[in-house]
Amino acid sequence: MNAESLAAQMGAEVSLLSPFGIQLEFSGSSGVTLANIPTEELKSLLAHHRLILMRGLNPITEQPEFAAQCRRWGELLEWDFGAVFEVVEHADPQNYLFTSGSVPYHWDGAFAAQVPWLQIFQCCEAPATPAGGETIFCNTPALWNALPHETRVQWETVEIAYTTEKVAHYGGAIRVPLVQTHPLTGETMLRFAEPANATTVSLNTPQLEVHGISPEQVPAFLAELIHHIYDPQWVFSHAWQAGDYLIADNHALLHGRTRYDQQSPRRLWRAHVLT
Ligand SMILES: [Fe+2]
Repeated sequence: MNAESLAAQMGAEVSLLSPFGIQLEFSGSSGVTLANIPTEELKSLLAHHRLILMRGLNPITEQPEFAAQCRRWGELLEWDFGAVFEVVEHADPQNYLFTSGSVPYHWDGAFAAQVPWLQIFQCCEAPATPAGGETIFCNTPALWNALPHETRVQWETVEIAYTTEKVAHYGGAIRVPLVQTHPLTGETMLRFAEPANATTVSLNTPQLEVHGISPEQVPAFLAELIHHIYDPQWVFSHAWQAGDYLIADNHALLHGRTRYDQQSPRRLWRAHVLT
């Protein structure tokens, strides 16, 4: 089933996001909730669109109900705190995720036993439009497909070691090839956790060590990679609105966050679907 006929069946308006992703907009009075969304049909849209934004659904008010609805999409990754992570600024943060600073690009579950396939977000409170706090997603298979041959050859030799102390819910030491195969679609994709940048609060940010190329090549390699992942032709920037539901392919996409005004409201729930 294509997106248009699916949207018509659900009573939603469908539009394409730029440069990738798809939006389903429900009339606020329709009474449709996440419980009414057909999961298998939407999963099949993800292979092409990578990301689905749904607006106008009746919001869920309790985390256990959000978790229950996310379980309809597949088995959830259970963290120390449970299946639902609340992304919000903390008064005394021990980790950069809980500040209002930027979050550099990464993929979720890097240190977990299994990298989850999907992220499902619900936006409970959103910053004012000029306050920042957009979540940014980079479409790495599309980026890869546009790379020159010599860049691909170099990147295929690269493995990156990441270490971070387990202060929040994740941590440890891993060594990960930059270039990987999407476990579901077979496409070539990138796994990269960007070092802290100028707008990141440096609290418990991961350390990187690049292997497979000479130490002299590392600065230019990182600069080129970071240049590409911020190239607007591969990046969807999402400005949250309260009530948004967003489902993203955590294999194909890297994601990060722009900084936002401190103490601006921004509260998201996020669950991870394993497969
Ligand atoms: Fe993340």
